[in-house]
Amino acid sequence: MSEVHCQKVLKMYQMTENEIIKNTALFVRESLKDAEGGHDWYHIQRVRNLALHIGEKEKCDLFVVELAALLHDIADYKFNDGDENAGPEKAADFLGNLGVNKEITKHVVEIIRHISFKGGNNGSPVESVEFKVVQDADRLDAIGAIGIARTFNYGGFRNRALYDPDILPEKNHTKKSYMNSTAPTINHFYEKLLLLKDRMNTKTAKNIAEKRHAIMENFLDEFFKEWEGSY
Ligand code: NI
Repeated sequence: MSEVHCQKVLKMYQMTENEIIKNTALFVRESLKDAEGGHDWYHIQRVRNLALHIGEKEKCDLFVVELAALLHDIADYKFNDGDENAGPEKAADFLGNLGVNKEITKHVVEIIRHISFKGGNNGSPVESVEFKVVQDADRLDAIGAIGIARTFNYGGFRNRALYDPDILPEKNHTKKSYMNSTAPTINHFYEKLLLLKDRMNTKTAKNIAEKRHAIMENFLDEFFKEWEGSY
């Protein structure tokens, strides 16, 4: 086969959606091999599964949902000196190299760009159902028993105190003050986690969030009882 012919064959070859998903999963898993415990491959797996579960009940493109869920923390700004472009750019390059259709790539990259919380209601310009589904999935993994575990792991990673009665939660974080916060881990429940239940986009996620919210409330009740010395 001549070289020119060979290039033509390569150009004509299009990966199936299944192959794209498999390649993406391998790439993400490898990229996150040294990630902090709450933002590792297993976080991605949980978000992917939640997103597919929620997405199945919505009218949406599950291929976009799965790709965005897989790539959503590929270069999290929290671990990249606040660089919010690192993740979207890395995802765009990767999908481009795989030969994923431009429109799908653009949609996935937009979802990744706007998914994270960053301290408040920053109002997202992305309104697609696929975005809402993946955002719900990522928020669900931030609450409940897993959410508690992830929060304390992240607090430990940042060397934060568990709790300090002299430092009150800051409800009106700006994007910057949220990113630079050194507050005790317990404050994070009041600044973010307990607010998420009312921010779910889909009905499926709202139902799951109710249960997970109650688990955090019970945990906090117990935490303060024990802190105050109840036996
Ligand atoms: Ni995430």
